[in-house]
Amino acid sequence: ANDELHARIRAAKETLGSRVVILGHFYQRDEVVQHADFLGDSFQLANAAQTVPEAETIVFCGVHFMAETADILAKPTQNVILPNLAAGCSMADMADLDSVEECWAQLEEIYGAEPDADGRVPVIPVTYMNSSAALKGFCGRHGGIVCTSSNAETVLEDAFARGQRVLFFPDQHLGRNTAKKMGVALEQMPMWNPRKPLGGSTSEQLQDARVILWHGFCSVHKRFNVGQIEAARAEFPGVRVIVHPECPMEVVDAADEAGSTDYIRKAVAAATEPTTFAIGTEINMVNRLAAEFPQHTIFCLDPVVCPCSTMYRIHPGYLAWVLEELVAGRSPNVIEVDEVTAADARLALERMLALRP
Ligand code: 13P
Ligand code: SF4
Repeated sequence: ANDELHARIRAAKETLGSRVVILGHFYQRDEVVQHADFLGDSFQLANAAQTVPEAETIVFCGVHFMAETADILAKPTQNVILPNLAAGCSMADMADLDSVEECWAQLEEIYGAEPDADGRVPVIPVTYMNSSAALKGFCGRHGGIVCTSSNAETVLEDAFARGQRVLFFPDQHLGRNTAKKMGVALEQMPMWNPRKPLGGSTSEQLQDARVILWHGFCSVHKRFNVGQIEAARAEFPGVRVIVHPECPMEVVDAADEAGSTDYIRKAVAAATEPTTFAIGTEINMVNRLAAEFPQHTIFCLDPVVCPCSTMYRIHPGYLAWVLEELVAGRSPNVIEVDEVTAADARLALERMLALRP
C-alpha cells in the first residue's frame, strides 16, 4: 500500500511541476522526507519559504507554527498547505496571547516603560519560533524578535543591546540554556507562571532579572535525562553526546555539545573518524542520521522511542491527498494568517532574518 502511495505522490508532483514546492522538517518520517524538495531546521525552512518565488503553493511537511511562518514570509499570492491540520506543537500551545499580555501588563507595572540612560527599554519580548503567529505579532508590536534554536544566542545579544532584560517564551529550557551560556546567572532568570506570577520572586530579584522565562517545554526533549548520558558514557567510552537545547539544563550541561537539528546534522557529517554519537533529539532524525552515516555508531539517548507525535501526523497519505487535490484545482488545508497579525509578526521575523546567522 505504501508503494502505491509513493507512486501517487510522485505522479501528482510531476503533474504539478514547479507550481508546487514541498518543504520538510528534519523530524519528518522517511516516507515523507523522500518527497521533500527542501529539508531543513526551522530557521532554514523559514528562509526557504522566502526563496521559492516560482511556486504557487508551498506544501509544508512540518507543524502548524512552521506553516504559519511560511505564510507570513511567502509572497501574498502563494498558498501554504499543511497536509494534516492536527499537526500542532504542544510547546507552542503553552503560551497564548491573553496570558502573554497579562504577563506584559505585570512587567510594565514592575519596570515602567521608560528607557534607561543608554536608551535601552525595560523589557524586550523574544519568542521562540515554536509559537503561534499571534505571539510573533505581539513581539513585532513591542520591539521584540523571534529566535530559533540555531540563532538564540545572536538574537539574545541583539535583545540585550536594545533592552535591559528579556521576556522569553514559550520554551523555558532554550531560554535558560542560552542565557546561561551567555553568562546570565540562574538567579537572574525568574519564571513567570500564570498561576503564580513571577514565581514569588522578591522585588530585589525582579530588579536584577535579565531573562524572565516562560513555563513552556517540549514533551519530546523533556524525556532526556542525565542518567541516560551516564549510561551511554559507561557503555561507550569516548562517546560524543550531542543534545538539542530544548533539553533540560542538567542534560545540556552533561552533554558534550548542544545545538539545533541542523547543528547536530552538521556535527555528524563533519566527523572524519568513525565516531560513536549519542543524540538527544527526535528519533526519526536520529535514525536517518544512523542510516546515512554507517561509518559512525549513532543512537538516540532515549532507549524508549521518542518521536514528535505531532510531526508524525504528516502521514504520506495526507501528502498524496493534498497533492491530488491541487492537481484537481482545489487547495485544501490552507494556513492563512490574517493580514494585521501577519504584518506585525513579519516585523519580528525580519528582525531575526536580518541578524547574522
Ligand atoms: P530546530 O529549530 O532545531 O529545527 O527545532 C525545531 C523543533 O521543533 C525542535 O523541537
Ligand atoms: Fe514541538 Fe517538541 Fe515536536 Fe518540536 S519536537 S514540534 S517543540 S513538540
